[in-house]
Amino acid sequence: MNANPTIPATMLVVVVATPGGPEALQVVERPVPKPACGEVLIKVAAAGVNGADLSQRRGTYLLPPGTPDILGLECAGTIVAVGEGVTDWAIGAQVCALLIGGGYAEYCAVPAVQCLPIPAGVSLIDAAGLPEVAMTVWSNVFEIGRLAPGETILVHGGASGIGTHTIQLAHRLGARVLATAGTDAKCRRCEQLGAVKAFNYTTQDFVAEARRLGAVDVILDMVGGDYIRRGLELLAPGGRLVMLALKQGARLELDCGLIQSKNLYLTGSRLRPRPIAEKGRLVSAVRKAVWPLIDSGDVKPIVDSTFPLRAAADAHRRMESGEHVGKVMLVV
Ligand SMILES: NC(=O)c1ccc[n+]([C@@H]2O[C@H](COP(=O)([O-])OP(=O)(O)OC[C@H]3O[C@@H](n4cnc5c(N)ncnc54)[C@H](OP(=O)(O)O)[C@@H]3O)[C@@H](O)[C@H]2O)c1
Repeated sequence: MNANPTIPATMLVVVVATPGGPEALQVVERPVPKPACGEVLIKVAAAGVNGADLSQRRGTYLLPPGTPDILGLECAGTIVAVGEGVTDWAIGAQVCALLIGGGYAEYCAVPAVQCLPIPAGVSLIDAAGLPEVAMTVWSNVFEIGRLAPGETILVHGGASGIGTHTIQLAHRLGARVLATAGTDAKCRRCEQLGAVKAFNYTTQDFVAEARRLGAVDVILDMVGGDYIRRGLELLAPGGRLVMLALKQGARLELDCGLIQSKNLYLTGSRLRPRPIAEKGRLVSAVRKAVWPLIDSGDVKPIVDSTFPLRAAADAHRRMESGEHVGKVMLVV
């Protein structure tokens, strides 16, 4: 291992004491990890807060094997040590990284293949909120959902971290974007980011409204339940509905004739349990396809708010308030 001599023996991290509300988050001291073969050690500057962290805190999240008990699916910072076999990154490099966990911490060890450079003009703090959204959206919307230029996508949760990135990227890559959100103000924000129209799902029927505006080819769904049936009704022949989350339930009665008669695709995925090699492949694909658009400022990190690491509970409260637009960040 090649390491910076100033690395301390211990660090502060955030873990879940007993599953429950935001107060369940606890700041504790842990040994600083040593990077294993193929890993780098990052001195964390900031970590992104994700919907999955909230579920993990509540004890309702299915954790993949090997997940550390330290929360955090993404971070950005400076590499301070490199493990055996790492040739792509050196000590001193500033990176952001996709993690299986461990981002709510002062230091984090991560496979080198899951690191990306900090895009031009983006702060370390803002960059920490990019890996999870960029990887999720590229994989689900463009690889699995096969969204093509000239097609239309409907993005549920348009004002979420995932939603704000999807709207910008799909718009920049030539798709027509529709979105849903829970307030008129959030809808206007979605339209500023590139949606041709956003619907307030508390007052409008997104199926009827979207139909008025033409065919929908892809739906990115993070709601589930009845949204799946309504989405399948809305989709044009050959359409794809990609499920990211199932907040409103995973079980429903469905007329599969809808799928068969319109040649629809109903699919979904989870990013976190994927093997390191698959995450590495995805990181390379995103670096090639998406990073240039962030470097040029065409796609921006949308950061709602920042909290100190010690105030992780307040960051979770902010996410749970549903008032945020874009990412909530922890600054270390
Ligand atoms: N499968 C995967 O690999 C993967 C990866 C990353 C994220 N995700 C999931 O994707 C979702 C977004 O993640 P995030 O971190 O960006 O979280 P977030 O910012 O908290 O987003 C949650 C969003 O859900 C929206 N929502 C809730 N009920 C809705 C409804 N009935 N209709 C339309 N929208 C509704 C909320 O919109 P309003 O506030 O406007 O109501 C909010 O914008 C989370 O559920 C997360 O678990 C999945």
